[in-house]
Amino acid sequence: MGRMPVPPSLATPAIDRRHLLRLALASATLATPAALIGLPRKAHAQARWRFDPFALGVASGSPAADGVVLWTRLVAPGLFDSLGTEPLPVRWEVAHDEAFSRLAASGQALATPELAFSVHAEVQGLAPDRWYFYRFISGGVTSPVGRTRTLPAPEARVARLRLAYASCQRWEHGLYGAYRHMREENLDLVLFLGDYIYEYPNAAAAVRNFPTLATVVTLADYRERHALHRGDPLLQAMHAACPWVVTWDDHEVQNDYAGPLPGDGRPWGLNGASDFVARRSAAYQAFYEHMPLRAADFLRGAGVQGTHQVMLPRRYRFGQLADLVMLDTRQWRDAQVCGDPQHRSGMVDPATCPALDDPSRTLLGAAQEQWFDQAMAQAGSGWTVIGQQTLFGRRDGRVGSGEQVWNDGWDGYGAARRRLTDSLQRHRVRSPVMLGGDVHENWVGHVKADYVRPESASVGVEFCGTSITSRSAAGAMATKRMAENPHFVFAEGTRRGYGVCEFTPGAMRTTLRVLDDATRADARVETLARFAVQAGRPVVERG
Ligand SMILES: [Fe+2]
Repeated sequence: MGRMPVPPSLATPAIDRRHLLRLALASATLATPAALIGLPRKAHAQARWRFDPFALGVASGSPAADGVVLWTRLVAPGLFDSLGTEPLPVRWEVAHDEAFSRLAASGQALATPELAFSVHAEVQGLAPDRWYFYRFISGGVTSPVGRTRTLPAPEARVARLRLAYASCQRWEHGLYGAYRHMREENLDLVLFLGDYIYEYPNAAAAVRNFPTLATVVTLADYRERHALHRGDPLLQAMHAACPWVVTWDDHEVQNDYAGPLPGDGRPWGLNGASDFVARRSAAYQAFYEHMPLRAADFLRGAGVQGTHQVMLPRRYRFGQLADLVMLDTRQWRDAQVCGDPQHRSGMVDPATCPALDDPSRTLLGAAQEQWFDQAMAQAGSGWTVIGQQTLFGRRDGRVGSGEQVWNDGWDGYGAARRRLTDSLQRHRVRSPVMLGGDVHENWVGHVKADYVRPESASVGVEFCGTSITSRSAAGAMATKRMAENPHFVFAEGTRRGYGVCEFTPGAMRTTLRVLDDATRADARVETLARFAVQAGRPVVERG
C-alpha cells in the first residue's frame, strides 16, 4: 500500500527474482571469504571479523504499520580492502528492550558484493505505533544499536506526530552539529529532502576535506562519497535515533540534471554527455545501497538503456492524524527552459519565456502526477504532508523592478505546479502542508491557488528548510526578496539548521532551529521562529 505503481515500461524484469534466488542458494553453501579468519572454513558460523564491519553505522526507514526497513553496510577498514566476492549472511534482531532480552523479530539478510554488501532487512510482523531496538550481527561482531518505530494502524486515532525536515548537508561546508541537537528533539521521524551528498567539491573555505577532492562519476566514486558521509558519528547517531524517510534532489547525481539529461558542469559521464544516463544509474544504485529503502524500490535495469531506477514516491499514513506523501521532482522531469544555453538552468524573466508555463512540460512525470492525484483523492481528514525537494511557492528573486525566477524549481514548471494545486482543490484536501529544501534558506508561506494572482485563495501552507551545512549564495538577500513575494510570511537565509513539525489533530506547529556556527560539531542551537497552523485553515501564524 502506498507505493507509486511502476508504469509497465518500468516493471522489474523477472530476472531479478531468479537472481535473488541464486543468491539465496549460494548462501546455503557459503564459502568463507578471506577476510573472515580464526577458524577453519567449515566452521563459518564461528568465524570472526578482525575488524568492525559496521563502521558506517545502522539506519532504519520506510516504516509501515507492521514493520520497517533496517539498514547497514558491511565495510572493510581500508578503502581498497575487499570483503571478497561471495554474499555474506548478516543476522538482524529487533527487540523490545535495549538489552535485547525480549526479541520481537529476528532473521538473516544477505549482504551481496553486487550491492556493496549493503543490508536492507525488511522486518514484518511488528506491532503498530511502537518503538523497537535493533542491531546486526556478522562474523562475531555486533553492530551499534538503533532505535526505530512502526507507523500507527491506518484507522488509529493518533494524538501527536513529531518530525524534522532537513536537506543539503555538504560535507566540506560544515560539521554535523545540527544532528547532535536533532537527536534531542524527541522525533518520530526524519524527512530528508535532498542533497544528502554533493557530487562535486567546493573546496574554497572548506572546513573539512574529502579524502579525494574530486567529482564523482562512477559507481565506486558514488559509493565512496556516501560512505564518507556515513562515517560521520553525528550523522550516524541521528540515523540510529529514529526512522528516516528520504528523497533526493539533484546533487545525489549531478547539479541541475533533468530526467535523463545532464545538467550543469562536466564531466557529464565517463565518456561525455551521451554517457550521463549510465552515470545517473550508478548514482541511483549507490543511493539505494546507502538508504533504508525497500528492495522493490530498486528497479534494476528497468530504465533507459538498461539503467537502474529508484522509486521514491510513496505514501505513509500516521493513522487518522496525517498522511505523508513523498515526491521525486528529478527522475522524470522535462528539461529546464530559457536558461543559459550551455547549462539550461538559470534565472529567467518570465515575461520573456512563455515556455515556463507550457502545460505539456512536467516536473513529476505523467505517472507520478497521476499517482499524486489519486493520493489526494484518498486524503483523509487529517494533515496531508507533502515532502518534496524544493521551494514550492513562486519567488521573484530580483529585488526591484522586473521579475526573475529560478527555472530549475517549481517556478520553471508553472503549469505542473498548477496541476498540483488544482489537485489539492479538486479533492478538497483539508490541511495540506508542503515541506521542501534545496534553497539553503528558510522560507515560510502560503500555497496559492494561482501564483500568477497572489491575491488568490490559500490552499495550503509551505515550510521550505534551510540546509544542514550547505552555504547560501544570497542568504542575506532573503528578507528583501520576501518583500516582493507577499504569499511568503518569513524568510531568512544566513542560518543553517532544520525544522521541527509537530502535528496534533487540531493544529500543527513548526519550529525553525538554527545553529550559531555550522562549522563546529559543538555548535549551539536556538529557535529562529515558531509558527502555528490550525487544521482545516491554511493560514500561517507566528508563535
Ligand atoms: Fe543543496
